[in-house]
Amino acid sequence: MDTDDATRERFIAACEAAVRDGRFERLLLAGYRGASPDLKRVAVRAIVLRGQPQLSFTTSHARRDETQNLPLAEGWQMLRTLLGRDFANAHLHTPQQELQLAYSRKGRASLRTGVRRGGEAAAPLTAAHNRDKARLLSLDRPFLARLGVTDAQQRLVPAMARKWKQINKFLETLDAALNASPLAAATRIEVLDFGAGKGYLTFALHDHLRHALGRDAQVTGVELRPELVALCNGIVDQLGLQGLRFEQGDVGSYAPRAVDVMIALHACDTATDHAIHMGIRGGAAIICCAPCCHQQLRPQLLQPHPLRPILRHGVHLGQEAEMLTDGLRALLLDACGYDTQVFEFVSLEHTAKNKMLLAVKRAQPRDAAPLLAQVREVKDFYGIREQCLESLLQADARI
Ligand SMILES: C[S@@+](CC[C@H](N)C(=O)[O-])C[C@H]1O[C@@H](n2cnc3c(N)ncnc32)[C@H](O)[C@@H]1O
Repeated sequence: MDTDDATRERFIAACEAAVRDGRFERLLLAGYRGASPDLKRVAVRAIVLRGQPQLSFTTSHARRDETQNLPLAEGWQMLRTLLGRDFANAHLHTPQQELQLAYSRKGRASLRTGVRRGGEAAAPLTAAHNRDKARLLSLDRPFLARLGVTDAQQRLVPAMARKWKQINKFLETLDAALNASPLAAATRIEVLDFGAGKGYLTFALHDHLRHALGRDAQVTGVELRPELVALCNGIVDQLGLQGLRFEQGDVGSYAPRAVDVMIALHACDTATDHAIHMGIRGGAAIICCAPCCHQQLRPQLLQPHPLRPILRHGVHLGQEAEMLTDGLRALLLDACGYDTQVFEFVSLEHTAKNKMLLAVKRAQPRDAAPLLAQVREVKDFYGIREQCLESLLQADARI
């Protein structure tokens, strides 16, 4: 199978997973380039006919629509035939994401994923009646009570509402990235979570991968504070969980090892750079971090003309340091063979630390030189002498 076929199969696997999990809203095929002069597009819906799940294909022509219902296996086969040959674009809509498969003029396939803002408002009718039905995690999972997210009756503890929202948003984001990555069909997935803290997100991801997706996930939380490590391992032992362990360690001196998914949520300052570096070194297919306290660049920033009157305000300088740090990290990740997105993963009302860097490894590396030239230009403009991730990558000759 060539890389374009593998990309198409990842897209179809994501569609199949969305149907299985009840997240499939619709699939649109656009960019028609076949022989029928009046054909516009095809919309695909997941339906149930006489108790059997089916795919309903509605083909829109200039003056009429045609509908064809097919059992799932035949439907996926139909999609396989249409993609790339007749249609240059396909958009999968789920409540949380839009996944796009696009073919270039030369027939090269690529995947792009976007997190939908206000995703819950767009949830399917069945889910709109009970918002928790749209969540990837349910309140009855036992680890939630041990961590104090739910009470003994498995009800959400009101004080944990924000955390609950954050956990779910994180899972939605990771789930979307998994479906768009080479890990879409992997059975065994090795995860490292740096700065795991009390383990809310570590437990949640482990539960989602093992319990909801049935993958053989091996998840390790790495945390500086020994009391948090002991607390989390205690819960793992009480619940007899397989494939989850917490280790006391410092991301700055952690021994490199192979990893599929590297996460670092709210790891302080340059701990995020060390975690990203660890993910790149370990060959991670997905690197996901929500950076926190951007201290390193701020004292280095010149206030170049004509920004000087703007950046003399400390608050602006802080915002600039954050934007530049994360922007440089994204460029460096791209230079190391990833497609990186920077976005707000949960609204500001839930946490101020809401920015996420999500990097998914590309099937083919790209030319790093233009990206590294952009890094140099930005650094020169602002007078930045050192950025931690860049130094780490230079030290082991990755850039
Ligand atoms: C703000 S908490 C985030 C916890 C968790 N990731 C979350 O988002 O809920 C940051 C955690 O990172 C840990 N930490 C800070 N620097 C670290 C380092 N160099 N190595 C490992 N853990 C670190 C802290 O002890 C703290 O528990």
